[in-house]
Amino acid sequence: MTCDIPNIYEYDVVIVGAGLAGLAAAIECKKAGLKICVISKIHPLRSHSGAAQGGINAALREDDAKSHEFDTVKGGDYLGDQSAIKLLCDRAPETIRYIENMGAVFSRESSGVIAQRQFGGQSKPRACYAKDRTGLTCLQTFYEQADRLGVEFCEEFFVGDLLFDADRNKVYGITAMKIKDGAFSVFNARAVLFAMGGYARCYEINSNAHANTGDALSIALRRGLSLEDMEFVQFHPTGLNPSGILISEAARGEGGRLFNSKNERFMSRYAPKKMELAPRDVVSRAIETEIAEGRGAGENKDAVWLDLTHLGEDLIAAKLPELRDLAITFQGLDMVKDRVMIRATAHYSMGGIPTDIDARVKRDETAAIVEGFYAAGECACVSVHGANRLGANSLLEAALFGRVAGETIAKDMANLTLKNADKSDAAGFMAEVDRLLTQNGNESVAKLRAELQKSMTKNVGVFRDQERLAKQKEIIKDIRDRFKKARLTDKSARYNTELFEALEFGHMLDFSALIVEGALRREESRGAHYRTDFPDRDDAKFLRHTFAALDKNGEVKVAYAPVDIGDHKPQKRSY
Ligand code: FUM
Repeated sequence: MTCDIPNIYEYDVVIVGAGLAGLAAAIECKKAGLKICVISKIHPLRSHSGAAQGGINAALREDDAKSHEFDTVKGGDYLGDQSAIKLLCDRAPETIRYIENMGAVFSRESSGVIAQRQFGGQSKPRACYAKDRTGLTCLQTFYEQADRLGVEFCEEFFVGDLLFDADRNKVYGITAMKIKDGAFSVFNARAVLFAMGGYARCYEINSNAHANTGDALSIALRRGLSLEDMEFVQFHPTGLNPSGILISEAARGEGGRLFNSKNERFMSRYAPKKMELAPRDVVSRAIETEIAEGRGAGENKDAVWLDLTHLGEDLIAAKLPELRDLAITFQGLDMVKDRVMIRATAHYSMGGIPTDIDARVKRDETAAIVEGFYAAGECACVSVHGANRLGANSLLEAALFGRVAGETIAKDMANLTLKNADKSDAAGFMAEVDRLLTQNGNESVAKLRAELQKSMTKNVGVFRDQERLAKQKEIIKDIRDRFKKARLTDKSARYNTELFEALEFGHMLDFSALIVEGALRREESRGAHYRTDFPDRDDAKFLRHTFAALDKNGEVKVAYAPVDIGDHKPQKRSY
C-alpha cells in the first residue's frame, strides 16, 4: 500500500508533539537559530493542552514559592523529586509573565491584577486562569508565536520509531508516516524532543483526547529505555458520568459542592478541613467509596452530584461557561439550576520517560543520560508531581519544562552530531506497518481495545489489590496474543485511520503492562496508587521511584531509584 522508499529529512532538532511543552521548546530553539521541525499526529491546535480548563499555578503577590513547593511535595505524597519541584515553583511567576508577554489574556480582578482561584491541596488561591479555557488560551498563544517565528510544522505525521544507537547511547532521529498518503519518512536530527502528552486512553472512563495513547512511552520502551513511576495514574474526581469528560476542578474552586444520594456533603467524612478542595486522589477515593457503599446518585447509582446552583448565573457565565455548555450538551443539565452527575475519570499520568531537571532523558535507574534525547510535558517524568499531581501544576510543568528543554537543547547543540540516518533506518517501523496490514486473523482491534480499556478501569483504577492486578496482567497477555491475530479491513494508503488505531493500540498494550507491574509490586498506598490490601504508605520499603523496561522476551523488568528529598521531610499526609 505504501511507497517503500522513505523520504529523508535533516534538522538540528525534531520536536514530536505540538502541545504546550513542544511549542515552548520550539520557540526557544527557533530563537536560538536552530533548524527545527515540529511533528504532530494532529493539528497543533487540537493538542490536549487545550483541554486543560481550570488554571496554571504560580505564587504571585503576597504568596510565596516555598509554600507552593511544600503543597506540591505533600500533594505528591513525598514521591516527587524536590530539586525539580523547587525549580517548578521558583520559576512559576516568571512563567506566567512569559506567557502573558507572549499575548495570553488571563482573567483579572477589578483592580487589574491577574485573578487566581483556589485549587485542591493548595494553601492559597494560586491558579491563574482564563475563564475555564486556560489551556486553550495558552496553546493558541504559543502556536501564534511559533508561527510568527517561522517554526516549521509537519502536522498529521504519525511517529513510529526512535532512532537509537544503543551502543553509543545516542538518539539520532525518528521515523514517521504521513497520515495523508502513507509515505514513510526518516527525520535525521542532532536532538529529538518527545513532548507527546499522556496516556489515559488506556482506560474506559477517561478525560483524555483520542490522541492520548502514550505513543512516546512505548516507542522509547521498545528501544530498551526505561519508564519511571508508571503505576501512578491520576483519577480526576469530576468527570461527567458516564463519558468521563472533564468538569474542571475550577467548579469546586469557585465553590462547587459534592453530595451523595442521601444529600450528604460527604467530603466532611474524608477531608474535614479541605472538604471538596482536598487533592484529587483524596476526593476521587471519597466519590468512589460513596458509590461502592450504595450512596451513589442517578438512575444507576454510579455517580455523585456536583452542585453549583448556589453560585448564580452571573458567576457561572463569567468564570465557568465551558463547563456549563459541556453539562448541557452531554447530560442535558444546566449547572445554573441543576446538579450534575460526576464520578472519577482517568485524567493524567504522573509517570513517563525519566528526565533530569534540564529535560535530558535518563536511560534507566542509573540516571545515565541518553545523548541527543529530551522529553517534556506529560509524557516525561521529571517527577514534579510525585505520586499525585495537584491541579493546575500540569500547564505550569508543560510550559516551563518545554522551555527548559529548548534552552538545554540550544546549550547542548555544539556537542551533538548528526549520524546521517538513511532509508534502512525506517525498516523497523515499515515492518510493523506491513505486519499489521498483512496479518490475516479474525480479531478486531476495536474490540480488543475496548476489552483493555474496560479491564484497566475495573482492575487498575482508583482502588487496586493483588488479585485484580494479577488478573489484569493475565488479561493483557491474552489480549497481546490475540492482537497478533488482528485483521485490518482497510489496506489503503490514504488516511488509513484503522491502521493508526492499530499502531496506537500496540503502544497502549506495551505501557499498560508497566502500569500493572509497577502497581502489583508497590505493596503500599501512596498518592493516586491505592492498594486496599496495603492501605498505608510504607516509606521504609517504597519511598523510591519505579523504573520499568521490557526485556528481550517482552517481560517487564523492574528496578528502583531513590527519591530526591530536599527541605521537606516525609510526614503523615492529611487534609
Ligand atoms: O480540573 C482542571 O481544570 C484540570 C486542570 C489540571 O489537570 O491541571
